[in-house]
Amino acid sequence: NSDKLSSARFAQATNAFVEVFTASVDFDKRMAEQDIQGSIAHATMLSACGILTGQECDAIIEGLSRIRQEIGSGQFTWSIKQEDVHMNIEARLTDLIGIAGKKLHTGRSRNDQVATDIRLYLRSEISHISDQLIRLQTAILNLAEQTADTIMPGFTHLQVAQPITFGHHLMAWFEMLNRDHERLQDCCKRINIMPLGAAALAGTSYPINRFMTAELLGFSRPSANSLDSVSDRDFAIEFTAAASLIMMHLSRFSEELILWSSAQFDFIDIPDAFCTGSSIMPQKKNPDVPELVRGKSGRVTGHLVSLLMLMKSQPLAYNKDNQEDKEPLFDTVDTVINCLRAYADMMPHITPKKANMYTSAKRGFATATDLADYLVRKGMAFRDAHEVVGLAVRLGVDTGRDLSEIALTELQQFSSLISDDVFEYLTLEGSVAARSHIGGTAPDTVRAAIDTARKNLTDA
Ligand code: ARG
Repeated sequence: NSDKLSSARFAQATNAFVEVFTASVDFDKRMAEQDIQGSIAHATMLSACGILTGQECDAIIEGLSRIRQEIGSGQFTWSIKQEDVHMNIEARLTDLIGIAGKKLHTGRSRNDQVATDIRLYLRSEISHISDQLIRLQTAILNLAEQTADTIMPGFTHLQVAQPITFGHHLMAWFEMLNRDHERLQDCCKRINIMPLGAAALAGTSYPINRFMTAELLGFSRPSANSLDSVSDRDFAIEFTAAASLIMMHLSRFSEELILWSSAQFDFIDIPDAFCTGSSIMPQKKNPDVPELVRGKSGRVTGHLVSLLMLMKSQPLAYNKDNQEDKEPLFDTVDTVINCLRAYADMMPHITPKKANMYTSAKRGFATATDLADYLVRKGMAFRDAHEVVGLAVRLGVDTGRDLSEIALTELQQFSSLISDDVFEYLTLEGSVAARSHIGGTAPDTVRAAIDTARKNLTDA
């Protein structure tokens, strides 16, 4: 079998099923561009070091550029007989330019080649993910700006806790995405290290210049240990962990959007363009985008676990097991980009229903803590104040009134410290305005947080 890799060593052709079973070209052809970039840099370095002639190098670069075009225009014929993206491109290069094509693999192995390709691929995809993250963060900032003084109930245990502003709630989402952004940047530091030159595992006997290749490819430096270079996939796991956190965050946003758009909450409207109807119930408008994103968060976490299990217990250095790193990684990239994009497209069209949020905050005794704080300021110990307010809330529950609707004389039954200035503390507006320290929910504080966030985002 003339197609067989290292065919001279084998007396038998590969079993037909094994050929299909071990091939990865169907999915790793996605890294063709990175494979070509890596090969151009490798050839350039080989020629600068006198390992290839200038003519051979030129022929290689020309051939690879032609292959890049063939792939781009859909004219390239991928073959499972050539196993993976690396062998497919190399075989075509030799078809095109002859003997020089066969010299490209000097001082290199597919082991350092594939590790380099994945790093280049991830580096470029992370910048696309960051772009979508920033689009979503910008949309969140815009909506937060319009709702910096929109009062809603804040929840703990999904029970009304204290009044907050909708803008403040959205800025919590913003912070979550900011950390995601930082995590991706941080993980890039470890992605951006170059494996080429490690060859199969031990390095190469040719007088190569790894610093030059690293510089040509925009890596910060060559990797420090050849065995580690070909067997390390930590960077892929780190990336998938960062992606899992993004998806976990999106699943939480989704859960809230779904609740808020229900008739029971009715805090927001999700535009028709992002919802679908029911095949049987004519009245239905289902929040499909948030639901699907919530569902997709599971598969990304699944990929994280797959990659951890893939690497667990592998002896150094490269093992064929590693070919299994690609599908989970690629699906993680696709899923995260698509979900962020759907969210970034949808967010600008979400309408807050301000009056409904306000009414809901009024109904849940959201200012009970404010009444307790009022009593503390008048000299009562906090635990005693907690008790007094508990009695007042019970009266409110029994008689169907909010705290602000109970008469002064009735409140005074619970404590003589209460006087007619109490009502300014029992309003929702007074409650949020009082929380004006950094990180608090007061409208002016939220507006300042939005300003700072916007500056940091454009500087990023
Ligand atoms: N397709 C292989 C992979 O994805 C490339 C590296 C192959 N190396 C080897 N020694 N078989 O990992």
